[in-house]
Amino acid sequence: MTEFVNVDLGSRSYNISIGSDLPIGTALGESSAITALVVSDTNVAPLYMERCVSLLEARGLTVTSAVVPAGELSKSLECAADLYSKAVDAGLDRRSVIVALGGGVVGDLAGFVAATFLRGVQFLQVPTTLLAMVDSSVGGKTAVDLPQGKNLVGAFYQPVEVVADLDSLDTLPEREYISGLGEVVKYGVIWDKGLFEYFEQNIDALLKRDKAVLLKIVKRCCEIKAEVVAQDEREGGLRAILNFGHTYAHALETVSGYDKWLHGEAVSLGMVYAAKLSVALSGFSENDAERLVTLLDKLGLPIKLDDAPDWAELRKAMDADKKTLNAVPRFVLAKRLGEVIFGCEVPEDALKAIG
Ligand SMILES: NC(=O)c1ccc[n+]([C@@H]2O[C@H](COP(=O)([O-])OP(=O)(O)OC[C@H]3O[C@@H](n4cnc5c(N)ncnc54)[C@H](O)[C@@H]3O)[C@@H](O)[C@H]2O)c1
Repeated sequence: MTEFVNVDLGSRSYNISIGSDLPIGTALGESSAITALVVSDTNVAPLYMERCVSLLEARGLTVTSAVVPAGELSKSLECAADLYSKAVDAGLDRRSVIVALGGGVVGDLAGFVAATFLRGVQFLQVPTTLLAMVDSSVGGKTAVDLPQGKNLVGAFYQPVEVVADLDSLDTLPEREYISGLGEVVKYGVIWDKGLFEYFEQNIDALLKRDKAVLLKIVKRCCEIKAEVVAQDEREGGLRAILNFGHTYAHALETVSGYDKWLHGEAVSLGMVYAAKLSVALSGFSENDAERLVTLLDKLGLPIKLDDAPDWAELRKAMDADKKTLNAVPRFVLAKRLGEVIFGCEVPEDALKAIG
């Protein structure tokens, strides 16, 4: 069964398809005039590149592929420059499409190249991690990193289509899959208490990667992200709620080095921190906070640090967060499961007491 979610952005609207054995390139039509560059990484390409290329060729497209090293280091201007060269060599023109086949790293990098090559060519996302399916492939944020920090150069650039084939999750390493569940849980907290309860009731099925459960939750998470992005594409307001747990998570990633915690793991620890702040400041009940921590724990996500990083360093890293205004970090706090408020200034003593 295939489910569809529409991201309603006027002339830049697009569909996300979610299911098994899905076609790729429906939004492109069938045209021998379209040239495609499929970008993947060294882990994903051996598994899924051949299928992706043949599906696009079956539509009549002329297809070239490019493979970057797996890992965050590929989200660089150097890798982007290599891909610009490949795009020129492959004869890409304004009608062409760049396809991201992989996780958030490939999606952010290929999306940035698609946004900037020839001032923008078509972009298609084929996410292969849970995190990319529910988060990074939807909403149009693309970026590369600089040595000074993550995602410092980028563009808002929407894809023409997102194809989330759940079969690709079968090969995802366990730690990466569980990390993706961190972002999944976030959607229940920020928007949909019923979804949160569904997670609580389906922990075993989630851990076994049950396809029917995955279909339901990936669809619901994409619906929520689509709704938020449709209301606030460029993060002038509401879109900030997607950052629940992220101020702390980004700071932790900065001070621990990016190889210690996977993003969803850092988000899990960040949500525990945000839940404690919320109990102190925004009326979140102890019971709801406990339910969140218990769910994260049962899913195998980290809920506490064995060796806490130096508070002063962590606090300084919070100031570097892109959501910080005038050196005051802004937090998303929960009122109850399914409802959060954003842009909250938190008193310094509360930040420290909970950290
Ligand atoms: N643009 C956005 O809105 C947004 C949102 C959240 C995160 N991000 C970015 O996403 C990136 C993290 O994404 P990620 O967690 O998907 O990491 P990732 O892209 O590094 O993928 C994780 C690992 O899994 C491997 N892999 C991917 N799919 C696989 C599969 N199906 N089978 C086997 N191995 C597979 C990859 O090669 C990699 O080693 C970060 O750079 C982050 O900044 C972007």
